[in-house]
Amino acid sequence: MKICVTGGAGFIGSEFVRLILGTHPDDSVVVLDKLTYAGNLENLSSVRDDARFEFVHGDIADVALVDGIAGRVDAIVNFAAESHVDRSLEAPGAFIQTDVYGTFVLMEAARHHGHTRFLHVSTDEVYGQVRTGSSVEGDRFEPRSPYSASKAAAELLIQSYVVSYGFPALVTRGSNTYGPYQFPEKIIPLFITNALDGRELPVYGDGTAVRDYMYVTDHARGIDVVLRQGEPGQAYNLGFGGEVSGNEVANRIVELTGCSAGLIKRVADRAGHDMRYSLDSSRAKALGWAPQYDFAAGMEKTVAWYRENRAWWEPLKADDFWQFYERNYREAPGQAPAAAPADLAPVRP
Ligand code: NAD
Ligand code: TYD
Repeated sequence: MKICVTGGAGFIGSEFVRLILGTHPDDSVVVLDKLTYAGNLENLSSVRDDARFEFVHGDIADVALVDGIAGRVDAIVNFAAESHVDRSLEAPGAFIQTDVYGTFVLMEAARHHGHTRFLHVSTDEVYGQVRTGSSVEGDRFEPRSPYSASKAAAELLIQSYVVSYGFPALVTRGSNTYGPYQFPEKIIPLFITNALDGRELPVYGDGTAVRDYMYVTDHARGIDVVLRQGEPGQAYNLGFGGEVSGNEVANRIVELTGCSAGLIKRVADRAGHDMRYSLDSSRAKALGWAPQYDFAAGMEKTVAWYRENRAWWEPLKADDFWQFYERNYREAPGQAPAAAPADLAPVRP
């Protein structure tokens, strides 16, 4: 199979490319990537010289470019997206353009060339926060951030193509993913790299929001299984099945890096913070997929990788990174020492 992997220079996409080229000797890969702040050719350095690998620098919303690539591959696997919730709160436009319109452009090209498989990488965030129980694939979408709304909008468009045109789309809804090569803005790589530099670990709100963290190789393998064995027209949840709070992430990183627990800092909560995601992944497991790394094992590998690969992440934490950081993080209400009003000043004897 010749596969176009969009967003293949990003975190999960690059792991998927390594997996395909490493385990499917008859497959070849064309990566289409715009190289936004989150895209990095270094992520693909281990496959650069493989004759079955090709890189195209471009935008999934570029109709002519995408149609040309679709004409010479068998399938598209769409990882390309703006992917960070906090950035979507500040500037949603790019999320609509890439995550929604870009997906439409890819589907039109796949349809034009009669592809028999199209895999769209989506997220558990389309279900919105789930207070109790675990989401199954038929649950309704209740996205609450511009990021999750963009991903849900793309999925609705995909569903309409399945119904209207018999479009052979497969969708994966993965949970929060972590591991090597993740841009240091999501909680785990941000906290690890900050800890290694002796900087603060900014926990939103009271730190009780939980996520179902999944190690990146497990996520990539799940996508590969669904691509080959999934039923077109269906969606598949991919989650580890655990629940880890922001406080637990911070504490684990303190333990593994040996930094001071005093670096943990509560900051103002994220607007519309989803307090819990939880996936029932039985449908994907019935295809033979199972995650292999629990949080303890995955975090040990991840911290070791960031420790050993400072040359990869240090240049990413440049001026524009810190400018976003400054705009994004605010003191927790009540944390800043308030000046005592004059009439409430303690009366001294
Ligand atoms: P990432 O931000 O690390 O990488 C995104 C990649 O897409 C980058 O290489 C970027 O350059 C590229 N890109 C962005 N806009 C593009 C465009 N218009 N045209 C071409 N390329 C473009 O993202 P990630 O964390 O690897 O996530 C990959 C996919 O998985 C996304 O669709 C995301 O919604 C989904 N997902 C991520 C997680 C997670 O925890 N990271 C969990 C579930 C689902
Ligand atoms: P994040 O890694 O941004 O993933 P998502 O919001 O897409 O699930 O956030 C994961 C959890 O960590 C979420 O509950 C918000 C919290 N968080 C912090 O407490 N501090 C941070 O600096 C970040 C980025 C996230």
